[in-house]
Amino acid sequence: MVGLPVPDRLSIKSYKGDYSVEFTSDAFAAVQTLPVDKTQLIVDQKVFDLYRAHFEKYLADFKKVFINAEEAEKDIDQISKYVRVLSANGVKIDHTLVAVGGGITQDITCFLAATMFRGMSWIFVPTTLLAQADSCIGSKSSINVGSLKNLLGTFTPPRQIFLDVGFLRTLEAKDIASGTGEILKVHMIKGIEYFERAIVDLHAMKTDFQVLQNYIAASLRYKKELIELDEMDKGPRNVMNYGHSFGHAIESATSFGIPHGIAVTMGMDMANYQSMKMGRITEADFFKWHTALRENYRDFENVPLDRGIFSSSLKKDKKNTGSLLSLILVRRQGPIEKIGVAPDAEFQKNCDEFFAGFKNR
Ligand SMILES: NC(=O)c1ccc[n+]([C@@H]2O[C@H](COP(=O)([O-])OP(=O)(O)OC[C@H]3O[C@@H](n4cnc5c(N)ncnc54)[C@H](O)[C@@H]3O)[C@@H](O)[C@H]2O)c1
Ligand SMILES: [Zn+2]
Repeated sequence: MVGLPVPDRLSIKSYKGDYSVEFTSDAFAAVQTLPVDKTQLIVDQKVFDLYRAHFEKYLADFKKVFINAEEAEKDIDQISKYVRVLSANGVKIDHTLVAVGGGITQDITCFLAATMFRGMSWIFVPTTLLAQADSCIGSKSSINVGSLKNLLGTFTPPRQIFLDVGFLRTLEAKDIASGTGEILKVHMIKGIEYFERAIVDLHAMKTDFQVLQNYIAASLRYKKELIELDEMDKGPRNVMNYGHSFGHAIESATSFGIPHGIAVTMGMDMANYQSMKMGRITEADFFKWHTALRENYRDFENVPLDRGIFSSSLKKDKKNTGSLLSLILVRRQGPIEKIGVAPDAEFQKNCDEFFAGFKNR
């Protein structure tokens, strides 16, 4: 495929062995070099349809399993289906699974690689902005159980990542916004000044490919710092959950009607609202950031949201301990941090105010 040449690589330290992100302008040629008899491709059906000519030219001889990349597909109930197809394709313990797609294809492939034969090797070709700028590194597989989002999972890094930004040219606007949501998240975690620079560039990210590529590379560099410090998410890495407690609850309460990174953008806005109410940031901070965050989720702000499911999902969030919600909150003076917040009447009032206001501000 013709993408922009970005000759670079980023290596990541992992408990399972170091791996690297190879920036390539030809992911198909890179995958073609793998041994056909020991490789099983797990491909997003939509990506296959869009890039059929490339698959036929480079990867015709490879065994393929197709995924319909919808949130319902990464449910535990669907996993056995993929095990059966791989088994019918003759998968063996020394084969490599190669995921070609976005975060959903990644999560399913990573979970299969972690569990089949008690562990296989896997390679990732991320084709969405969210996967390229964020999820491709960090080792996590995340599988849903009904409406319980990402409840099951493992830490299983890929052996390698072939990152080809050329894939992004066919993404829909909502999937670009989903990716820019995670880019904004990583930048806020790095520091308020990084976030404030990113919101100034938000429009340019969506219109200027070079700007977007720079933000992909920066996001991966900032995420690398945290995952190398705390791959198992026991402490410092927890802040990567910024926007996610609220975001996952929003996804559940809208029956996954909002793309993940867009729900996370709303979740960041909600977390900032809570931070403002607790006096951690000023009103001026909140409203300045809100304008940019809302710009990223505007197209989805009127999706009907079930408040009962929202509240119960928030309380079931896997990061909670005891009766407190574990929220990642911003502070004007000092780093972003994890705070235990009681889901009391005041917290509910803040949520009510946010939901009442955010459609019209
Ligand atoms: N494991 C992790 O660390 C991690 C991190 C963040 C998010 N996630 C998960 O990732 C999922 C979201 O990932 P995503 O946003 O990449 O979504 P996705 O995999 O659902 O892809 C979004 C849409 O884009 C389509 N698509 C993929 N590549 C395309 C291309 N090049 N051109 C056109 N269309 C293309 C897909 O078919 C799908 O319709 C969520 O389930 C989320 O929980 C996982
Ligand atoms: Zn996320």
